[in-house]
Amino acid sequence: LDNGLARTPPMGWMAWERFRCNVNCKDDPDNCISENLIKQMADRMAADGFKDAGYEYVSIDDCWFASERDSNGRLQPDSTRFPSGMKALGDYIHKLGLKFGIYEDIGTKTCAGYPGSYNHIELDAQTFADWGVDMLKLDGCYANASYYAYGYPAMAKALNKTGRPIMYSCSWPAYISNPPYDVIAEHCNIWRNYGDIQDNWDSVSSIINHYGDNADKFAEVAAPGQFNDPDELIIGDFGLTYDQWRAQMALWAIFAAPLIMSVDLRNMDSEAAKILLNKNVIAVNQDPLGKQGVRIYKDTSIQTFRRELKDGNMAVAILRTSKGPTPARLDRSLKDLGLSAAVSYDCYETFQGKFIGSLSPDDEVTVWLNPAGGTYLMTCHPNPKPNARTNV
Ligand code: GLA
Ligand code: GLA
Repeated sequence: LDNGLARTPPMGWMAWERFRCNVNCKDDPDNCISENLIKQMADRMAADGFKDAGYEYVSIDDCWFASERDSNGRLQPDSTRFPSGMKALGDYIHKLGLKFGIYEDIGTKTCAGYPGSYNHIELDAQTFADWGVDMLKLDGCYANASYYAYGYPAMAKALNKTGRPIMYSCSWPAYISNPPYDVIAEHCNIWRNYGDIQDNWDSVSSIINHYGDNADKFAEVAAPGQFNDPDELIIGDFGLTYDQWRAQMALWAIFAAPLIMSVDLRNMDSEAAKILLNKNVIAVNQDPLGKQGVRIYKDTSIQTFRRELKDGNMAVAILRTSKGPTPARLDRSLKDLGLSAAVSYDCYETFQGKFIGSLSPDDEVTVWLNPAGGTYLMTCHPNPKPNARTNV
């Protein structure tokens, strides 16, 4: 969507995977979907380095709504959980230098059963703009498959008409088979195209496999302003190992995926925070060329992925999918990893920024990969002076 937004994959935080539809503020006041929760997350984003690292959208997901629209047909938040109202919440987020994201659904109801925007598209777009919303995630529950091709573009038009820049996240392709990605990319900034991420490695691997297996269907459409969205980052939650946290970060960087954390920022593992804040990996994700990486090799234990970056730079991820039991050694030539241009490359291990060497396509890199999610991420810059190359 050519609206000036999401020129690189959007970064932020979203409530859904970690906090779900917890509306029980009586028993669980600290974790229920409420203005307090959202404000606390915004505070942490601003104070703990996330904002400085590029994370900017603070997004409420489903379950913020009152059960009915107001007497003028406008959406309204649940008044006990959002007593100050959405405009005030947006103001709070904006004062911290962050952006305000909200959730609605194209159908008659949201996935959790709250009022959907069906028959209210223009009014809802205007309501969001009035509240200072900077991003809309528009889900696809409770709608006929034939309606998406009308409803999603209609909301895009309505958002545009408000004059407020609103980053637009569509769930359109996730609800249909053979999505018309070119059309979707014309109307949406980002779009979910697979089932919801869950806090376990099976879920994350199934997303990685979907992106690996079907790159021919949707990798090409990714570009500045328009990105595939494999769903939230669950780094720092409960179901993945440290290696699998790194794997998700590395692969989401390769996929030019939105980096939308869903974690309790108030109380999180410091190693997980370091992964989310890793400047080198974020730089791969945010590469201005906006090209999505693809899988170039797969066997029963290893997969390798390559992403083309600006100026001929390359990022490569090597992922170990097999379970174990011990770290495994792998030797691969740059050529086998998809770096075959007739130049030498200065290659770095991306997480630590450690120089590996100045390598030609026939030179091998040796990596050790931990079981079930061990990942090696490498960034390589073509060397304009092949004669200056040294062996490692
Ligand atoms: C769908 C979406 C999720 C989340 C829930 C909310 O399942 O895919 O990301 O927004 O609805 O109900
Ligand atoms: C929205 C639209 C843009 C432009 C501006 C005008 O952001 O998406 O295309 O019309 O409003 O402010």
